[in-house]
Formats: sequence, C-alpha cells, structure tokens
Amino acid sequence: MEINKSKQTEIKTENEPDRLLVEKVFSHKQEHVFRWWNELPENERKNLFNQLKDIDFALLQHLIKMHIKGNEPEQSNNKSTLKPPDIIPIPQNDSQRKYASESKEIGVKAIKSGKTAVITVAGGLGTRLGANQPKGTLPISPVTQKSIFQLHAEKILATMKRYDTIIPWYIMTSGNNDKMTREFFKENHFFGFSTDTVYFFTQDTLPVLDLHGMLLMDSKSTIVTSPNGHGGTFFALKEKGLVSNMNERGVRHIFYHQVDNVLINIADPVFLGYHIRKQAKMSPKVVMKTDPEEKVGIIGIRDGYLDTIEYSELSKAERHARNPDGSLRFGMGNPAIYLLDVDFVEKVTNGKFPLPYHKAVKKVSCVDDNGKRVIPAENNAVKFEMFIFDALKHAQKSIIMEVAREEEFSPVKNVDGNDSPDTAIQHMTNQFGRWLSDAGINIPRDKNGNVRGKIEISPLYALDAEELKNKISRPNCTLRNKEIVFTGELYLQ
Ligand code: UTP
Repeated sequence: MEINKSKQTEIKTENEPDRLLVEKVFSHKQEHVFRWWNELPENERKNLFNQLKDIDFALLQHLIKMHIKGNEPEQSNNKSTLKPPDIIPIPQNDSQRKYASESKEIGVKAIKSGKTAVITVAGGLGTRLGANQPKGTLPISPVTQKSIFQLHAEKILATMKRYDTIIPWYIMTSGNNDKMTREFFKENHFFGFSTDTVYFFTQDTLPVLDLHGMLLMDSKSTIVTSPNGHGGTFFALKEKGLVSNMNERGVRHIFYHQVDNVLINIADPVFLGYHIRKQAKMSPKVVMKTDPEEKVGIIGIRDGYLDTIEYSELSKAERHARNPDGSLRFGMGNPAIYLLDVDFVEKVTNGKFPLPYHKAVKKVSCVDDNGKRVIPAENNAVKFEMFIFDALKHAQKSIIMEVAREEEFSPVKNVDGNDSPDTAIQHMTNQFGRWLSDAGINIPRDKNGNVRGKIEISPLYALDAEELKNKISRPNCTLRNKEIVFTGELYLQ
C-alpha cells in the first residue's frame, strides 16, 4: 500500500505524542516505514512506534543533508602540516629504562589506590567475522579455548590480585549483542568478578539509510539500525550514569581497548605512569608499521593537532618516507589502545568537543518495497559512526607510547587470513613462547620463527614475561632448565 501525505490519517494513534510522531515521520518524508501498517498486528505496530520514538530526526536530517544530498564538505587534501608526533619509544638505553621504571611506579600507585578502570568496547557487529555471537564470546585461547572475554577477565583479575585493588570493568555492548553478552557472563559466573565490579552499558544505535537517505527496513515493522561507532563510548558512559559511577568510585583514568585484541596488555602501569607524569587527558599507544603499504591508520600531527590519519589519506611519498635510521616517518600505527581521563570524557559529553559522524557505504540486508528479504550484491546502505580517535585532537595533552606489536596487538577481524582467529592463536602462542625463552627454556620454532605446537599461559599463572621468569626461577619449579619437547600443547595455569 502506498502511503503519502494525504494518508497520514490512516495511521491511527492513541495519544497526542504518537500523533506528533507520525507527523514528524511524514514531515521528514520517511512515511514509507508505514507501508505495511494496515497488515501489521498490534504488537508489531508498537514495535515500529518504539523504534521511531528513539530516532533523532533532526540529527538524521543533518546527516542526510551533509553526507547524502551532496553538501558534504570536500575532504581537505591540505596535508602540508602533517608531522610525526614525538613518541615515547620502547626503552633502548638506561635513561629510557629508568624513565619507564619510574613511570611504572607512578602507574602502580594509581592502580593500587583504585583510580583506574577498564573499558572494553564490544558493541560492533563483527560483520567481517560473520559469527552469530558477540566477538568476545569466541573461543580463542590456544589450548583451552577460553573465550576472548575470559582472557580479558583473567588479565584484570590477575592485575587486581597483584596490586591488591579493585579495577572496575565497563563493557560496552550494543542493542545487537547486549543480551547475548550479559547472558554469556551470567552463564560463566562473571568469570569470578563480583557483580558490582563489572558493568555492561549499551551504546546508541542509528538508523541505516539507503543511498537516497530513506530508512531501510529489516522487516515490515523493523527499521535497520547499527551501533553509532566506538566514539559512542563517551556518550553512552555519560547517559548510562557511568561517569558518575566512576566519579563516586574515585576512578580518574580509564584503560580503553577493543574487545577483539587478544594480546591487549590491560592496565599497563608504565603507560599510565607516562600519562600521569605529563598530566595527559587522552593518550594512545602506537605500534610501528614495517610495511609502508600496510593498510592501517596512523597517529600523526595534522594542522597542529594530534589525529588519526587513514591509510588512504597519506600520499605514496608520505607512506614511504623514512627517518635517517630507516624507520618509517609516518609509521605509527594505531592499535586503538587509549588512556582516557574521566574529566576528559565529561568534557567530550558536555558538547565542548563534538565528535563528527563518518559515513560508511556498505552492503546491508533488508526488505524491499514488496517486503521481500534482499541480500544486496552491491552497496545499498549508508551507516554513520563516530570514532573514538576523533577526540584525540581535543585532548590538550597526550603522550604517545610505542609498544611492540607482537606483545600487544593482534585483533580478530576476519574469518581467515590476516587478523583472524588462526593468526590470533599463533600470536598468543608466539608470545608465550618468547616469555618461556626469556625464562631460559628452549622453545622449538619453525623456519618463520613461529612456535611449533600450541602454548597457553593463563594470566592467573603469569601476567607477563617477568612474572613467568620469577616463577620458573623458583627452586621447586618443574620447568626449570627444561628443553621443552612439545607433544603438541603446553598449558600453564
Ligand atoms: P571494528 O570497526 O573493527 O568493527 O571495531 P567490528 O564490529 O569489530 O567488525 P566489522 O567491521 O563489523 O567487521 C573495532 C572495535 O570497536 C568496537 C568493536 O566491538 C571492536 O571491539 N565497536 C565498533 C563498538 O564497540 N561499537 C561500534 O559501534 C563499532
């Protein structure tokens, strides 16, 4: 059935707010959402209304005007002011090592005094991975197949134990995976966390539009929506009362990371110490690119501000430019690991530092005008997302800490190939193999340097190479002076 302006009255409403809502939908020319109104049962009509109530039509209109109807500002190609930022390198000499160890003490002190929290963002759809479950629930550890969430949980628990403190854990979900995530934690008894130490909060979603700016329908009564990007973290924290919760707890610094990084060094006290010493407000870690053509965003200074620069925004000359020591001039890859101060989060949410929306054109399954499901062969949809790194330019002070990729960054994005469960498992095994080698244990490797077989060390056994070494050097440790001959697997718990 065709709905047009003259048929607005066909949408019977029970109260004035609902009538006004229908009017708003028509005035924004989105009345096609009522196309199947007459055939919808009562509960589905309610469902459609509830979704429409949540839509910020003014924002939508702005986004359509800016990004779809052709008024999009030209991307600035003026990169004359692009510069590499100063970074704190991986310590190579005594003075750098001294600075790192003094900073660690400062970081440890802040962790011990309960001033830190962890945020894991897990609201993404994980489209590339294509799993029907939240990414964090994916079994991933090399030997025991612990889930990604369990690995993170054990790291935080081990850190709390080490420093005899509480580190509250805030997990961001989205409407698409919130229920499953909460249920997963419940089934797993919150991995040992008390329920007042782990919090779930849902980020906002935005409707997905077709290429002309019309709301896409997922069924005859449901609008397609998508989470509003990891930049939504700031606003969700504020709206869900968690900024207040952090303030009440005395939390001042937040370790932010993405759920899919299995090597994350959660609550790294050295990073925190550097950040506190500089009185920084938002600080990123970086991992060095070795291949100039690796398609990752980098951290740089654009027009005087710290920023993330997409691979596609760098010219070939910039991508290949080298420092005198041979390293890439613009090689500071962004693994999306940040420290955020709570007062900075508040400033961003108070509207002082608005984050822009970015448009992404994608293939999104939906129903067509006849109510039939369509799996598009071509891009048919526009999504809008805010990015966390757009806040960097507003943090007046930041430190940028270089870390070793093989120790801190291995994301699970794809089903196979790069950044897949297979690479994550190999990278974890390699990391544990390095820790064991550091502790004097001979670990067999193949010609590519990959550890043969599978190794897993529970964070509750050793959180890092140093702790492992200490454990192994104890006289009663059965691993001492061992040449490990793998039968295939080793698990230390
Ligand atoms: P990605 O951009 O890699 O998205 O998110 P994704 O959902 O994991 O995977 P694709 O792109 O759909 O295949 C990086 C991190 O940011 C989180 C994700 O959960 C992941 O930890 N994220 C992303 C959110 O929490 N919310 C969002 O709206 C987007």
